[in-house]
Amino acid sequence: MKLQCGGGIVKKLIIIGAGGFGREVLQYALDIKEAGAADWEIAGFLDDNIKALDGYSCEYGIVGTVVEHKITGEHVYICAIGDPKTKLGICRRFLNEDAEFINVVHPKAYVARNCKMGFGVVLCPNSSVTTNVAIGSFVAIDVNSICSHDVKIGDGCTISHFCDLTGFSVLGEGVFLGSHAVVCPSVKVGDYAKLGAGAVAIRDVGAHATVVGVPAKKIHSAQAEAGVSEGQKCR
Ligand SMILES: CC(C)(COP(=O)(O)OP(=O)(O)OC[C@H]1O[C@@H](n2cnc3c(N)ncnc32)[C@H](O)[C@@H]1OP(=O)(O)O)[C@@H](O)C(=O)NCCC(=O)NCCS
Repeated sequence: MKLQCGGGIVKKLIIIGAGGFGREVLQYALDIKEAGAADWEIAGFLDDNIKALDGYSCEYGIVGTVVEHKITGEHVYICAIGDPKTKLGICRRFLNEDAEFINVVHPKAYVARNCKMGFGVVLCPNSSVTTNVAIGSFVAIDVNSICSHDVKIGDGCTISHFCDLTGFSVLGEGVFLGSHAVVCPSVKVGDYAKLGAGAVAIRDVGAHATVVGVPAKKIHSAQAEAGVSEGQKCR
């Protein structure tokens, strides 16, 4: 086992989910290491589909399944699953078993000095978090998305590429924003709501609703969305 210069054991990073986003997060972790900002080594992925990396050239493999993984204290974790409900379910189970989550903040992400952030957060290259933003735990903010002044983001949200969260907008828990979605100033998006790719929310969005278009309109009822998680297009 490797020791840090202070004598502590160097923990190994496990990426939960070896899908497309998982492979992207691996690259971000490698970039952080190359920038000299990592106090962990990389172990590999957990995925219930042990063939998830078949056909990809990847220097790290799947070290086990999510269901069977035992938390031992020798690892740190980051979750790279896009679907918020699945992500929060897994992360909360791991947390209950004392798993330690780190934040993966890419060296090319911009984060204002007064941003508050939980743990298990992924900030991708060219994402921007400006002044007085509060980000919960297990949030992913993908490439080129911006969180403007005074935005609040609940636990487990997934914000895809090129999204624009404008000033004072609020996302509840487990919200999914498709690529290029916009949330207008002070608009509130309820828990587990989804904005489709390109949607522009000009008014508050109810919990569990799926909205699409400009201006964004509902396509599924709250009850339907609260039930089985059919129709997930998040990765
Ligand atoms: C909004 C979304 C989640 C809905 O998925 P779904 O529940 O499976 O919905 P469907 O595909 O059955 O579409 C239902 C209706 O909404 C329309 N629709 C779906 N997504 C839309 C979008 N983004 N913009 C406009 N209309 C859309 C469909 O055309 C369809 O209309 P119709 O009933 O008149 O034929 C999905 O289409 C989406 O936009 N996902 C975002 C994906 C993304 O950006 N991922 C980024 C990470 S890779």
